[in-house]
Amino acid sequence: MQVEQSKVKYNFEYDNKVKVCFIGAGGHSFRNIYPTFQYAPVDLAAICDVNAERAAAYARQFGAKAHYTDYREMLQKEKPDAVFIVTSYHPDGRVQATDIALEALRAGVHVWMEKPTASSVHEVQQLIQASRESGRFAMSGLKKVFFPAIAKAKEIISSPEFGTPSSIYVRYPQSMPEFSERSDLRKLTSLLDHVYHPGAIINYLMGKIGTMSYEREPFNGGSVTNMRFLNGAIGTLHLTAGISGSSPLERLEVVGNGANVVVENGVKLTYYRNANRPAYGRSASYLVDDEVAPLHWEPEYSLGQLYNKNIFYLGYVPEVLHFCESILAGQPPQKGTLEESLEIAKLFEAYRTTPEGTKAVINEG
Ligand SMILES: NC(=O)c1ccc[n+]([C@@H]2O[C@H](COP(=O)([O-])OP(=O)(O)OC[C@H]3O[C@@H](n4cnc5c(N)ncnc54)[C@H](O)[C@@H]3O)[C@@H](O)[C@H]2O)c1
Repeated sequence: MQVEQSKVKYNFEYDNKVKVCFIGAGGHSFRNIYPTFQYAPVDLAAICDVNAERAAAYARQFGAKAHYTDYREMLQKEKPDAVFIVTSYHPDGRVQATDIALEALRAGVHVWMEKPTASSVHEVQQLIQASRESGRFAMSGLKKVFFPAIAKAKEIISSPEFGTPSSIYVRYPQSMPEFSERSDLRKLTSLLDHVYHPGAIINYLMGKIGTMSYEREPFNGGSVTNMRFLNGAIGTLHLTAGISGSSPLERLEVVGNGANVVVENGVKLTYYRNANRPAYGRSASYLVDDEVAPLHWEPEYSLGQLYNKNIFYLGYVPEVLHFCESILAGQPPQKGTLEESLEIAKLFEAYRTTPEGTKAVINEG
């Protein structure tokens, strides 16, 4: 479903709903995930957190009939169709949700889990195998590919008029510790937590990375990574550690053939359609014909519209809807897949194991 183009249903308007349990009553889920259920076919049966008070408070707040401190007991008693997992990190830096998701899949429950899906390629492969063996779906919260602006950019770059997407630039503020520290997963929590965001955009728009190399600056830990995609296109990931706290975080540009598309700050989308540059030295106006003029979209922030809520324009409702609709249709999710997470985990591992200035092979051509 193209949520940005269709009418959104409210939870109580659905006839068929997915019976759901939720593991994790933390900050992010309170702000951004439980609230999406207002607009999705979700019947929230129970909530679990090791903190009993929070589990009870969230159950009351979001309308679950039961709450638990032991997720195994919850899954056994409630027998949900699907479980949402929004937990945190083990003391060794591994992702708590990875282990819980494996167990849930093996118990025959569909899984929606927040990113990061896992801290290694091997762990994502284990999830893929468990999903195949159990016939249950697992999807990660790769919200960036559900941003209306990013989904529209994908539609634009896939159109014949755009030409072959030839290069991409992605900016995201993220620091990376120096190479000698990267064998210790505990020092990489921030990178692991965030690499899934730009990584998801890169994979979604350009496909698999073939090779990459990067340079890192020692002042903030910022870096610039150059990538060659398997399809021959090239890209740059600029991890802009050191930017101001008052600055927008992200910028994206994809270049085609005579056309390019830019997404600023996650919401402002400009499509520079294929147009000739006005005659050099002789053009009094920069305004090209209407038929080829740039197209620009940005939200208005005046009306009490759904699209003005961050749970819509940051992709949270669209991703949860996609998961629920996939389950109800008996079809595996097409976005936020474990295969996408696998490609991001490969990039993360390349940063862990590749010194600056050296070329890493992510996928053989
Ligand atoms: N996509 C996004 O925009 C976004 C934004 C923020 C955070 N996140 C992700 O969300 C996740 C959670 O972040 P947070 O800030 O809410 O963390 P948090 O620490 O506030 O919440 C995690 C909760 O999980 C509970 N928990 C952990 N293990 C459990 C277990 N075995 N059983 C039951 N409960 C358990 C903890 O008690 C805690 O209440 C992280 O994976 C983070 O990367 C995503």
